[in-house]
Amino acid sequence: MSMLASVPVETVAPVPRPLEQDFEALDACHREVLVTLGDLQKLVERLEDHGVDPVARRLASDIVRFFSQTARAHHAEEERLVFPGLLASGDAELVQHIQRLQQDHGWLEEDWLELSAQVDAVAQGYSWYDLDALRMGSAIFAELYKDHIDLEESLIYPEARRLMSLRPDAGAARARRAQR
Ligand SMILES: [Fe+2]
Ligand SMILES: [Fe+2]
Repeated sequence: MSMLASVPVETVAPVPRPLEQDFEALDACHREVLVTLGDLQKLVERLEDHGVDPVARRLASDIVRFFSQTARAHHAEEERLVFPGLLASGDAELVQHIQRLQQDHGWLEEDWLELSAQVDAVAQGYSWYDLDALRMGSAIFAELYKDHIDLEESLIYPEARRLMSLRPDAGAARARRAQR
């Protein structure tokens, strides 16, 4: 056996270090989530008053695109960049909050899967949606999402930013890589 074979291999991935511009993008996405939740409410009202018309179809199609693409990517970015550092912080209360947020991501995905079937049908011009289910599902989805964003903005992002500032070299290598 060679000497090299006994050298331990580093298998633990380094904890990611978000940059200030990552937080700006995440914050901006929260604003978009809130606007799009408002659009979902508008869609329900539009369907109540006019049924499936071109305005409802356009609204539905924009809502599907946002929650199926942008919002999913946002959750993945938080799980990749923001949560690992806080999970590794050793702060039991913080870890509990992150676990709750991870569970929320699962519930939001489940809620959206149910809603999206109906919203996508409207986007395609079909009228088989169930207005009561859509109204109730949208309200539950919006409530959970707003609560989720409140916790992220009031506690989690500030803590993640604080941790980042404790490490002055945080993200430096990535920033240099991005500039090349
Ligand atoms: Fe989140
Ligand atoms: Fe978020």
